Amino acid sequence: MSMLEDLDRRVMWHPFTQMAEWEPLVIERGEGNYLIDTQGRRYLDGVSSLWCNVHGHNHPRLNRALREQLERIAHSTFLGLTHEPGIRLGAALVEVAPPGLSRVFYSDSGSTAVEIALKQSFQYWQLRGRPTKQRFLRLGSAYHGDTLGAVGVGGIDLFHRIFGPLLVQSIAIPSPALVGAAAALDRLAQELDTRAHELAAFVVEPLVQGAAGMLVHPQGFLARAAELCRAYGVHLIADEVATGFGRTGTLFACEQEGVAPDFLCLGKGIAGGYLPLAATLSTEEIYEAFLGPRPALRQFFHGHTFTANPLACAVGLESLALLREETLPRAQPHLASLARSADHMRQLSAVREVRQCGLMIGIELVPRETRLLGAEVCERARQHGVILRPLGDVVVWMPPLTIGADDVALLEEATRAAIGEIC
Ligand SMILES: Cc1ncc(COP(=O)(O)O)c(C=O)c1O
Repeated sequence: MSMLEDLDRRVMWHPFTQMAEWEPLVIERGEGNYLIDTQGRRYLDGVSSLWCNVHGHNHPRLNRALREQLERIAHSTFLGLTHEPGIRLGAALVEVAPPGLSRVFYSDSGSTAVEIALKQSFQYWQLRGRPTKQRFLRLGSAYHGDTLGAVGVGGIDLFHRIFGPLLVQSIAIPSPALVGAAAALDRLAQELDTRAHELAAFVVEPLVQGAAGMLVHPQGFLARAAELCRAYGVHLIADEVATGFGRTGTLFACEQEGVAPDFLCLGKGIAGGYLPLAATLSTEEIYEAFLGPRPALRQFFHGHTFTANPLACAVGLESLALLREETLPRAQPHLASLARSADHMRQLSAVREVRQCGLMIGIELVPRETRLLGAEVCERARQHGVILRPLGDVVVWMPPLTIGADDVALLEEATRAAIGEIC
């Protein structure tokens, strides 16, 4: 065992990891779609470093933007001060976001982007003289992050149940991917009809529920849900932390159903996967409710030390330009290669179902009692040169948008070999 592996075992505690069975893999460098460990072994980054890498690692344009900002300043606060990269990225986000979203509130993770939307929605109704509107609707098996507010609107038992006593309770609408659009919409309409007066917002991952195992919604669900929320005066919070920045094949998933939410939560790919950054976009109508003379105390009392970190914003600005100019237009053939490989995986007897929305793919294995097949397959895939992570029995493919045909072939071969050896 190397000195670093040994030190890791002695001092580190890794997220979502059973440390009793932890095998360290020390990554030293990244090159394009590949991660390289301290032994010089190369691995295809099959999950974009937890769904955030957009253009591959070590990209010259992003590196340059980061270096140039570093020569100016690494960090200064956004509480009471402002700076050019923050302002310019905010304006660029407003330009590309669904219509009506005109205000940008930064934070530093997907979870905080969701917390902020929940708190802003809640405070908005208080400020507008509707104090009973305090509760949130969400989908079954929803995932919106790991901070307590975000867990309160989450529905993945494995991650969330133990924290139940600590949480704001939310109301679940069955996932349309599991019960069909009509049944989910009926239930949504019912909840809105009986308790719109106590509902602040409906929070939803548009088109695909990622952490639930890549559950893809039937077409039309999002658009109809948005209409219902609007009709009943309940905010729609679109959590595009996972789906944003090209992951579903368009810049934002909401675009595909012509939906303009009241809040848009962004994270992960916002800075190309380089640095922690997130944003919560909202409408002018929401923003204006928070205005007034200082003693009226209407302002939003929320902020983080690293809100709008200038390095992250500078990379985010360059990343968005790169995405629109090159990465997204060039991703279309990669989507087709991935769809073909997904089809091949469907043929395997150990595979129960394959679900795909753009570059978000879930390969659900036929479960076996007492075995964590997803984890075993992903661990084995490393021996075939690919880094994967499971969601229960679902093996996830979520490569950078820059994945080419050869890399898709490696992704498929490695996954197929690992499934063959484990299942
Ligand atoms: C839809 C969605 N929302 C929020 C989050 C939380 O983001 P973060 O891990 O950056 O806090 C995630 C993370 O996977 C996500 O998929």
